[in-house]
Amino acid sequence: MRLLVTGGTGFIGSHACADLLARGHEVTIVDNLANSRADVVERIAAVAGRRPRFIMGDVRDRDAMLAVLRGQGIEGVLHFAALKAVAESWEKPLAYYDNNVGGSLALLHAMQEASVDLLVFSSSATVYGDPEHCPVDETAPRRGTNPYARTKLMTEDIIADIASQRRTFRAATLRYFNPAGAHPSGLLGEEPSGVPNNLMPYVAQVAAGERSEVQVFGGDYPTPDGTGVRDYIHVVDLARAHSEALEYLVREQRCLTVNLGTGRGYSVLDVITAFERACGRTIPRKLVPRRSGDVAACYADASRAFELLGWRARLGIERMCEDAWRWQSRRAARD
Ligand code: NAD
Ligand code: UFG
Repeated sequence: MRLLVTGGTGFIGSHACADLLARGHEVTIVDNLANSRADVVERIAAVAGRRPRFIMGDVRDRDAMLAVLRGQGIEGVLHFAALKAVAESWEKPLAYYDNNVGGSLALLHAMQEASVDLLVFSSSATVYGDPEHCPVDETAPRRGTNPYARTKLMTEDIIADIASQRRTFRAATLRYFNPAGAHPSGLLGEEPSGVPNNLMPYVAQVAAGERSEVQVFGGDYPTPDGTGVRDYIHVVDLARAHSEALEYLVREQRCLTVNLGTGRGYSVLDVITAFERACGRTIPRKLVPRRSGDVAACYADASRAFELLGWRARLGIERMCEDAWRWQSRRAARD
């Protein structure tokens, strides 16, 4: 298929592009490079053995999106482009609504105008807020507990409304849990700018000696070791799920909302220990107060993804840490 991937030079989008290209699809990336680098295109090509087309552009530019959809004869869209930092979304709510909701609206308008009816959308487990129980399945109540989460909730609802109005429109809403790891080649991975917000890239930078210690946010949660529990999912497993969701839309001609996680929860201390094993170094850590807005535990019931897509995670926490460490080491050497 001829596919448009918005945000395709970002962390998850770059892995998805590599997977899609390897399956024989034609891929056009549109990214404004707000949180990624143009040289990722070459690295996707090196991993996949085929080049994606790259267009520097902004999804909020409806005319530009329409020109891409028509000009490239696009048949389906994978929409990753978004801002994603929860804390920043409190500081800049307008930027988040503009980019994430406004960007999705402009893209959806252009898709309607170009009669492109297939969409795979990056949603997040953040839509569950503080889940009443874990594992959390797709029927759990959704709560937007911060501006970023609300942008995902709103976009999910906009997509559902379009699907109920336009008979031909098919969308897969994919709720990622905690993406982690990197491509095993060491060529693709996460490039946090400044201080990483997320645990795994922070731990990797401490292991590399770039930061002095991991701050463990809270040791008094009602979890086995008192630290926060999450469902870390290898980005390569996540990428594969996008290709499989796209195939589902084409095959079944039905919409889809699924959790993408492993179904297993790991605490902050579990992650640090697994990373120590992967890198062979001791990782200094310090217990500090809870980070505001964090929940005690969140992990997926991922059974629907298996039932509908035949997808399940294959790579565990050890591989996530090994691959994140390889990426961290190569990145330090490259930069
Ligand atoms: P990322 O920042 O690495 O990638 C997003 C890409 O989108 C970047 O390359 C950025 O330059 C681009 N972009 C942002 N705004 C744009 C715009 N207006 N026009 C064009 N390009 C734009 O983030 P990621 O981790 O790869 O996340 C991808 C998607 O997955 C996002 O929608 C994010 O909200 C969602 N998600 C991420 C996580 C996570 O922890 N990484 C968890 C759940 C959901
Ligand atoms: N943590 C630390 N120290 C750090 C960073 C994180 O102890 O330096 C802890 C957090 O308190 C939490 C766990 O590590 O218990 C994971 O934190 P992350 O920031 O890596 O991930 P979150 O679960 O907070 O959030 C992530 C994404 C959100 C997304 C959510 C659900 O950042 O965008 O997963 O998908 F919404």
